[in-house]
Amino acid sequence: MGNSFLSVLKRLEHEPQLSDLKRILSPLTPKEEQDLFRYAYHIKSREVGRIVYFRGIIEFSNICTKDCYYCGIRKSNSNVTRYELTDEEILREARWCHDNHYGSLVLQSGERSDAAFVDKIERLLIKIKDLSQGRLGITLSVGEQSLETYKRWFEAGAHRYLLRIETSNPALYSKIHPAGHSWEKRKQCLHSLRDSGYQVGTGFLIGVPGQTIDDMAGDVLFLKEADADMVGMGPYIPHNQTPLFSETAGFDPVRQLSLGLKMIAAVRIVMKDINIAATTALQALSPTGREMGLRAGANIIMPNVTDLAYRTGYQLYQNKPGMDENAFVQRQNLEKTVRALGEEVHYDAWGDSPHFHNRLKNHDPSS
Ligand code: 5AD
Repeated sequence: MGNSFLSVLKRLEHEPQLSDLKRILSPLTPKEEQDLFRYAYHIKSREVGRIVYFRGIIEFSNICTKDCYYCGIRKSNSNVTRYELTDEEILREARWCHDNHYGSLVLQSGERSDAAFVDKIERLLIKIKDLSQGRLGITLSVGEQSLETYKRWFEAGAHRYLLRIETSNPALYSKIHPAGHSWEKRKQCLHSLRDSGYQVGTGFLIGVPGQTIDDMAGDVLFLKEADADMVGMGPYIPHNQTPLFSETAGFDPVRQLSLGLKMIAAVRIVMKDINIAATTALQALSPTGREMGLRAGANIIMPNVTDLAYRTGYQLYQNKPGMDENAFVQRQNLEKTVRALGEEVHYDAWGDSPHFHNRLKNHDPSS
């Protein structure tokens, strides 16, 4: 089997096909799994280096107008105490990121599109740029917005945007979202973001009830079609105050972790020079989940810098880790972890994916 498995990996690297993706996302022998991760790690080393970038993530509000069936902060969950950080609190956390040499940060929240929200983000972008003399890079992760809003925020200083498509299969999307949540709209938003000039990140829920191996293989190819610059994806983890919980009787954390890691490896092999996050959901399944993610091909970690007082309010899934690990302790622990893998943390850098710059070069012959 050894040689033929290697030929699957080689084909994936050079001419990715659904059948080969399905092969690696199906159960593998331990040897095959190891070969897959090694192959992906080799591509990561070649394309983006053995370097990790930290993005401090500020989860600044759990107020949400959406009602996704899997998410703990969906608007219908009345058990959640809603919060919103003040500008001052957000700026304090942004300053912490800057002082601690995180070259960029992520502002994430539940989805809103009212004028007060749009204005607040714009104001914060300007102030964060100001407090760091333009040096902090800013990624937004605040959901579906109009083209005009995306443009305003880009003008104000955001340069990356994360918006997960959640699944490339529109039929599955409609099963895990209520009516009125539209896959087409989300896809359109990804186009609008690209047209507005952002580096665009997307991603998926992995192993969500009703999802097949075909769906996940299709997810990897979706990234190719979307020409994504960055990917943030993670295993689905049940939350008992959500409608999807009733369908998660056979939830198997070991399978979820393995699928999450295999998806990272698959995406690295197919997409090569993009940024891939080792997400917190991996860590929720194993204390060393994020290290495993780095070994499987990821190169980004998003340490939570939100004040501890707010963390329990932002539980998208149960057993979310890091509820009591403050930003400072987390930074030290993560740095040790990265070093132990023989990798280095790059501080004070935006850490754009080479893919983004290659994309610009290819599209603009004058640059
Ligand atoms: N398990 C894992 N990830 C989740 N998200 C929301 N709910 C869950 C869950 N139960 C993810 C979604 C969303 C991101 C912010 O969090 O993919 O895009």
